[in-house]
Amino acid sequence: MVDQTRLPSEEVYVTCRNYREVASAIRGMIIRGAPAIGVAAAMGVALGVLEACDEDLDSHFEQVCDTLAGTRPTAVNLFWAIDRMKRLWKSLDGLPLPEIRRRMIAEALEIHREDIAINEAIGRSGAPLVPDGKTVLTHCNAGALATAGYGTALGVIRAAVAAGKNIDVFADETRPFLQGARLTAWELAHDGIPVTVITDNMAGYFLNSGRIGCVVVGADRIAANGDVANKIGTYSVAVLAKENNVPFYVAAPISTLDLTLASGSQIPIEQRPTSEVTHLAGVQVTPDGVAVENPAFDVTPSRYVTAIITERGVARAPYGESLANLSSGGAVIR
Ligand code: MRU
Repeated sequence: MVDQTRLPSEEVYVTCRNYREVASAIRGMIIRGAPAIGVAAAMGVALGVLEACDEDLDSHFEQVCDTLAGTRPTAVNLFWAIDRMKRLWKSLDGLPLPEIRRRMIAEALEIHREDIAINEAIGRSGAPLVPDGKTVLTHCNAGALATAGYGTALGVIRAAVAAGKNIDVFADETRPFLQGARLTAWELAHDGIPVTVITDNMAGYFLNSGRIGCVVVGADRIAANGDVANKIGTYSVAVLAKENNVPFYVAAPISTLDLTLASGSQIPIEQRPTSEVTHLAGVQVTPDGVAVENPAFDVTPSRYVTAIITERGVARAPYGESLANLSSGGAVIR
């Protein structure tokens, strides 16, 4: 995996050789973004099974899954992927260990392959919603780096560009980890899609300017009522978008839905180290000893969400109905 803590200054690749290294790569943000975390966790489980021997098979497997599940709490894709690997594990009970290993590896590779296809389908669902000749505002990085490839929010943008739309992108820098300034800007520039970085506090100015045609962001977890947990600052952008009559779209795979939660207030919010706020590129920017908060995500109430773009189609309010429908594989709602 490319080390996302070192982009854009260095493009360095990290090889994880066991599940503990995968867990530490997820915890340390070497790999990040909800779908990418899910894919990595599936591969971590497969690596864990490679290490297993016939004695204590089940307790070893449990240890592998618990370690990976304990890395980051908010993105439900992590738990979705581990649960999928657990279901397969149960179904293979009694088979010889080499066969179990082969099937677990194949499943992890399949999750990786599927994720790219899902993102391309999200792109196809969302591209028609992107206004031609305008700027798209995005927050954080919901691109190829945050997925197995192509991206969710950036997948919609890529598909709109591929469909011939004349658009450019504003990337919020996304303090404190700078996923927008470092990662979204890097990957869009790499693709030749015009991108401009703005600081987070400039979003209101530009949303009010008439230049922004729509906002498209990703998601880490979406509750049954359509409330969306995403990178800290997303909520502010959504409120500003509504105030300025700019459509606010969320692009996410079905695996990001958590219909077991009635509303966003039940979504666990990760608190990250305060050093991410007190230091910028290793330089301290706050006085010694000052109090600091660092919630990594916020929840945007569904009333601010114009539509949720998935690989199965576009859901609109009332989300209780439309998301349940999409999740059960029901009719596409436009
Ligand atoms: O803390 P991060 O960088 O993992 O947070 C990522 C986000 O908030 C993304 O917007 C989200 O995971 C969607 S990625 C397709």
